[in-house]
Amino acid sequence: MSLDVRESVPLAPLTTLGVGGPARYFAEAAEEAAVVEAFRFAEARGVPLFVLGGGSNLLIADRGVDALVLRVRVRGIELLRGRGEDGGGEAGRALVRAGAGEAWDDLVARSVAEGLAGVECLSGIPGDVGATPIQNVGAYGQEVAETIAEVRAIERATGAAVVIAGPECGFGYRDSRFKRAWRGRYVITAVTFALRPGGAATVRYPELQRALAAPAGGAAPPLGEVRSAVIALRRGKSMVLDPADENGRSAGSFFMNPTLAPGAAAAVLARIEAAGVLAPGEAIPRYPADGGRVKLSAAWLIERAGFAKGTRHGAAGISTRHTLALVNRGGATAEELLGLARRVRRAVLDRFGVALSAEPDLVGFAPGEIDDLVSGAHL
Ligand code: EPU
Repeated sequence: MSLDVRESVPLAPLTTLGVGGPARYFAEAAEEAAVVEAFRFAEARGVPLFVLGGGSNLLIADRGVDALVLRVRVRGIELLRGRGEDGGGEAGRALVRAGAGEAWDDLVARSVAEGLAGVECLSGIPGDVGATPIQNVGAYGQEVAETIAEVRAIERATGAAVVIAGPECGFGYRDSRFKRAWRGRYVITAVTFALRPGGAATVRYPELQRALAAPAGGAAPPLGEVRSAVIALRRGKSMVLDPADENGRSAGSFFMNPTLAPGAAAAVLARIEAAGVLAPGEAIPRYPADGGRVKLSAAWLIERAGFAKGTRHGAAGISTRHTLALVNRGGATAEELLGLARRVRRAVLDRFGVALSAEPDLVGFAPGEIDDLVSGAHL
């Protein structure tokens, strides 16, 4: 087979933000052999290889991407009940293996329909299966780190298929080794999840408990009900893909929720108290995170720094339904989105001393151009 590489392919239509310029080279890989060819092509042309998934967590630069942009289209969702011959999962778990190019929500829908617990709270999230390990996709009290048994990938250096066990992936909050030490090293082609047959739904996120009228410690509602409730919550925040939604062109949350070491958190909390932004009796939203750290709500900090929902910045804006989502109101440029992101970040930093980091992948920008917004930027 030979890889079908096209030149100057517009990328904006392949992203949910609908922003940015073309790919210098673009190809699709339906099989692992095509991924190996793509590595060879990129090497021969001396350009980086960038993997595009569902495009739901990406901001592409206006000038485009000087790389081979590869859309991985490896398909298939297989259920391997129990401990399969080649599955390597835990006993009592059902393994679900999906090609990287499958839509994530199809895998969730199928798992819920089969009575397999473990990903039901991750319903309604746009994007492809292959992207989920990279940023450890999470929502409503679950993250894929809890269920990923293994990740299959092609290694750039050797062109060989490798299988990486979940615990080796170094998962953290919206983080993994694929984003850091392993950046550019692998192209993910399939992911295997270990789910709980007949298991109870995870209803630990307070907003979800309220929506389901399910008190903490009580019997969990059926998986299908949890899936519907999560989708309804997401829809209410314009966080499901819906072309008719005026906030629909976004990359989900534009910033991560900051997690601070205890000392830094105490200083920030004191600064917020002193800033006079709290209503009488109002508590600052905060959540315990790993290692005694404190997670704050980026959306809340942004609002208290003076940015209301619906704020406009040229054709870019803040969603009218959720302060964390920056949206393209029609014809926005990447420059406008970054301009708004910088204003927001600067205000939160000046007001409360918290530096927010961008959550989507910022692609095609020059070195130094986006250092303030992200650490570990690339291309
Ligand atoms: N809040 C506001 N204003 C808003 C929205 C939220 O002040 O407009 C405050 C409230 O205090 C609220 C708290 O923020 O209680 C948390 O809000 P929410 O439950 O909406 O969650 P989030 O922290 O804003 C995170 C994820 C979302 C995920 C939701 C639900 C990140 C960066 N974002 O948002 O993930 O869907 O929790 O679990 O962690 C994404 O990553 O793209 C994404 C959408």
